[in-house]
Amino acid sequence: MRLQGKTALITGAARGIGLEFARAYIAEGATVALADINAAAVQAAATSLGPQAVAVQMDVTDQASIEAGFADAVAKMGKLDILINNAALFTAQPIAEISRADYDRIFSVNVAGTLFCMQAAARHMIARGEGGKIINMASQAGRRGESLVAIYCASKAAVISLTQSAGLNLIPHRINVNAIAPGVVDGEHWDHVDSLFAKYEGRAPGEKKKIVGSAVPYGRMGTAQDLTGMAIFLATPEADYICAQTFGVDGGNWMA
Ligand SMILES: NC(=O)c1ccc[n+]([C@@H]2O[C@H](COP(=O)([O-])OP(=O)(O)OC[C@H]3O[C@@H](n4cnc5c(N)ncnc54)[C@H](O)[C@@H]3O)[C@@H](O)[C@H]2O)c1
Repeated sequence: MRLQGKTALITGAARGIGLEFARAYIAEGATVALADINAAAVQAAATSLGPQAVAVQMDVTDQASIEAGFADAVAKMGKLDILINNAALFTAQPIAEISRADYDRIFSVNVAGTLFCMQAAARHMIARGEGGKIINMASQAGRRGESLVAIYCASKAAVISLTQSAGLNLIPHRINVNAIAPGVVDGEHWDHVDSLFAKYEGRAPGEKKKIVGSAVPYGRMGTAQDLTGMAIFLATPEADYICAQTFGVDGGNWMA
């Protein structure tokens, strides 16, 4: 019960890693606001987790929606101790095929969404004066470019950079900002990634997953459960002296 009495808002929590983080936080005693653009899915996800979960409909690309979503979460939970910026979109294509619309769509969720949700959480936490924890979901993709993944890689590099700047700016308020950089995590997200590589590399469905999974030093793709330990630790007082860092949880794929 390392998060007993704590409250958290997790964006993009209707499925995948965000939903698993919500489950893990609740198991540690926290109350969690699951926030997602998909209202029906996030309501179903929150209901499945029981009375310590509340659903919040939020589009992280829309400032009014962010402000309403945080206000709703604070009204339902009474306060906000922890934010996990988890919502993100993925895209892949050769440089010659990138569209301005795709760039805007990905950066609006992955970068602007992360920044303005940090801002909303920080404003609440600073006003309350009891500190807080902010965890941003980066990626190994933010550590180096990939041939077909220019937009997503650049967006996750921006998340690592925002984590550094916000970490420095907010630590005087005892708000710790850190990031987790997963490697390859199986789930619906990677089903989509696999289908894009099938298209651009001429692969059979599922083939790219097998290739990336066997290339992980640990020997397989990650699971959402592989990430929960770091997400819990970064939200506890044991992590009070850690700020502005990005931690790889990737089976050894990347050495920082
Ligand atoms: N799965 C991986 O291999 C992997 C690897 C590295 C990093 N990550 C990162 O981990 C995080 C979670 O990944 P996942 O695999 O669970 O992804 P996912 O695609 O399964 O889930 C993302 C969630 O974000 C929500 N979302 C999308 N746009 C939104 C918006 N505008 N406002 C609010 N919610 C929105 C979606 O509805 C969805 O529920 C992401 O930041 C992702 O980039 C994932």
